[in-house]
Amino acid sequence: MRTQVGIIGAGPAGLALARMLHLQGISSIIIENRTRDYIENRIRAGLIEHWAADMLTDIGVGERMKREGMVHWGTNIAINGEIHHLDFKALLNKRITIYGQQEVVKDLVERRLADGGELLFEVSDVSVDDLKTDKPKIRFTHDGQPKEIECDFIAGCDGYHGISRPSFPADILTVYERDYPFGWLGILSDSPPPDHDLIYSYTDEGFALYTMRSPTVSRLYLQCDHDEDVANWPDAKIWEHLHRRLGGGRKLQEGKILQKSVTAMRSFVVEPMQYGRLFLAGDSAHIVPPTGAKGMNLAFADVVKLSRAIEGFYKKQNNELLENNSKACLRRVWNAQRFSWWMTQIMHRFPDETPFDHRRQLSDLRYIVSSEAAMKSLAEQYTGLPID
Ligand code: APR
Ligand code: PHB
Repeated sequence: MRTQVGIIGAGPAGLALARMLHLQGISSIIIENRTRDYIENRIRAGLIEHWAADMLTDIGVGERMKREGMVHWGTNIAINGEIHHLDFKALLNKRITIYGQQEVVKDLVERRLADGGELLFEVSDVSVDDLKTDKPKIRFTHDGQPKEIECDFIAGCDGYHGISRPSFPADILTVYERDYPFGWLGILSDSPPPDHDLIYSYTDEGFALYTMRSPTVSRLYLQCDHDEDVANWPDAKIWEHLHRRLGGGRKLQEGKILQKSVTAMRSFVVEPMQYGRLFLAGDSAHIVPPTGAKGMNLAFADVVKLSRAIEGFYKKQNNELLENNSKACLRRVWNAQRFSWWMTQIMHRFPDETPFDHRRQLSDLRYIVSSEAAMKSLAEQYTGLPID
């Protein structure tokens, strides 16, 4: 097989990249090791920054998001039950959209198939070769047959557990990481959210987040232990904690719990994001804790930059953007890391914190909800800085 760009992984990064390249007349093949059903139903985060929602519309996959996505012109920050509203519209005229990542994936897969683009599911034994040549290869097994794709470029969009990052020679990569001493227990509940906008709630008992997937389905999270076993959280205990951490006179309606899972919280970055003709994008190169809601948005930002760089190569015979791609992506990645770390440390109780840390944290929270400059800064980062 032969294509211009071989894409490993059909997550938001790989699928959006394929669509952007298609719009420029650049061919690609996507290979994915899971089934279509699996990637379209896996429950993940679902917050889309202002520019990213516009980008999805611009590339022709925004129609259902416009109909079913929930637009928020603000958010709530609660401090021990006292709720404060941040009005993004008044502060910056910016919004965020809540639309599940798996819905974005469904729309992108449908578009890919309508484009007649190749998208192979259930591949296995994926490996890459000849990365330092101008004809890098992807090898894999599909339908029991060994296959090889000869490409001009390979996009490693295969997430944190993929093969792309481990295919870099060991001495090329520097890893920067940080683990947090807690996780999030997340549930999907068949009940309406307690407020129109999201509520990020700091309490002395720990953090809680009240978000949603539709007017009748809530996505609710509780700070829990790092390696928490979901078995320790029967439904009644979850509701009890969700009620206690809400406050602000809001009523939380209980519903059938449709899904329950624990996510450990970590920050992770590798540098550089390129080796020869292999370019990493999205979770294959970086992980952020979900407090800042940057995961999917960073994946989109990486592929906007990568697609522009690849376009520059084919249309203008210009290598400059490709050579600078890793650096350009990492600048945004580190900014998102900084914001995600800051949101995480301000919102959670840390088991090893001192009374000084606790007082400082409360003061930081009070500053955010009382200073217009602080609110504007948070809003600017949360709704997403424009792509340079
Ligand atoms: N070969 C082919 N595909 C693979 C391989 C492999 N060896 N390993 C993993 N994959 C697939 C996964 O099954 C997944 O569908 O690559 C895809 C990677 O997608 P994501 O993990 O969604 O990563 P990305 O596209 O970078 O999107 C980042 O995902 O985890 C969230 O919070 C994160 O929202 C962010 C988003
Ligand atoms: C979600 O809706 O799943 C969500 C929203 C905001 C976050 C994290 C998750 O910060």
